[in-house]
Amino acid sequence: MSKITSPLFSLEGKVALVTGGSRGLGLYISEGFLAAGASKVYISSRKAKACEEAVAELNRYAESNGLKGRAYSIPADLGIRKGVEHLAAEFAKLESKLDILVANAGASWGADFEKHPDSAIGKVLDLNLRGVFSSIQLFAPFLEKAGSSTDPARVLITGSVAGISSGLSGGTYGYLASKAAVHHLGKSLAVELGPRNITVNVLAPGFFPTKMANGLLEVIGDEITQANPRGRLGTKEDIIAASLFLASPGGNYINGVVLPIDGGSHLSKL
Ligand SMILES: NC(=O)c1ccc[n+]([C@@H]2O[C@H](COP(=O)([O-])OP(=O)(O)OC[C@H]3O[C@@H](n4cnc5c(N)ncnc54)[C@H](OP(=O)(O)O)[C@@H]3O)[C@@H](O)[C@H]2O)c1
Repeated sequence: MSKITSPLFSLEGKVALVTGGSRGLGLYISEGFLAAGASKVYISSRKAKACEEAVAELNRYAESNGLKGRAYSIPADLGIRKGVEHLAAEFAKLESKLDILVANAGASWGADFEKHPDSAIGKVLDLNLRGVFSSIQLFAPFLEKAGSSTDPARVLITGSVAGISSGLSGGTYGYLASKAAVHHLGKSLAVELGPRNITVNVLAPGFFPTKMANGLLEVIGDEITQANPRGRLGTKEDIIAASLFLASPGGNYINGVVLPIDGGSHLSKL
């Protein structure tokens, strides 16, 4: 990803926090934010070492592309309330305001209907729904300080086309329910937080090759690709462009949308 210079998509001087930013879509989004001029991109995930490695990778990228911004990490388990509280408390020691929150950390679990563990449903909902809600709730004061009527602070929730289409469940019952839930949560919070100069929008990716998706893609990747109206999987550029649009001046007036980034797959059979 080379430097992004259009003022319409500039994040010049912005402070962002991307949960689940140590790999996959969150890492891509973090890189895109640095490319667009963000001054600080905080990433968070459970594993401190993975966070450190991701920060080093992002900062190597920033330095080699002459970007001013830098990445930082605050490891935390966002599947438990205490973890989200820890993240907010550590962030408060470093910053008083937050321009962009990407509530992206997520996990999945697939098992046959008859054998699906109740505990797995709970675990997935704890991170994908409760963790998202807690993150937005605890970071709202920081976002409110950063937002203005002409330039609102932004919340991006990573949902999924699994929360829209019921074509392919793969036994991910908790996951698909969690994603439908955060889509609706995002719309509701858009209405509630809009007047506080915070917009809330939802990214709904289709299949992107990441650690989470690779297991399923190894088994039925060809089928998924062929069924996709655009005949391919998602790429790093696809997720960066969509997240940047919603986080930048270009997305100033967009509030409460669920944006599928999937080549139209949510309208087809897979
Ligand atoms: N890839 C796709 O095809 C696809 C499609 C639709 C939606 N999505 C959504 O996109 C988001 C990112 O997924 P991905 O595909 O990039 O998956 P991924 O590569 O597995 O990344 C997941 C990220 O979340 C972090 N994480 C997991 N559990 C956590 C916890 N309890 N607390 C804090 N962080 C945690 C992981 O780091 P640690 O393991 O270090 O915690 C990692 O940084 C998820 O919300 C996912 O549902 C992905």
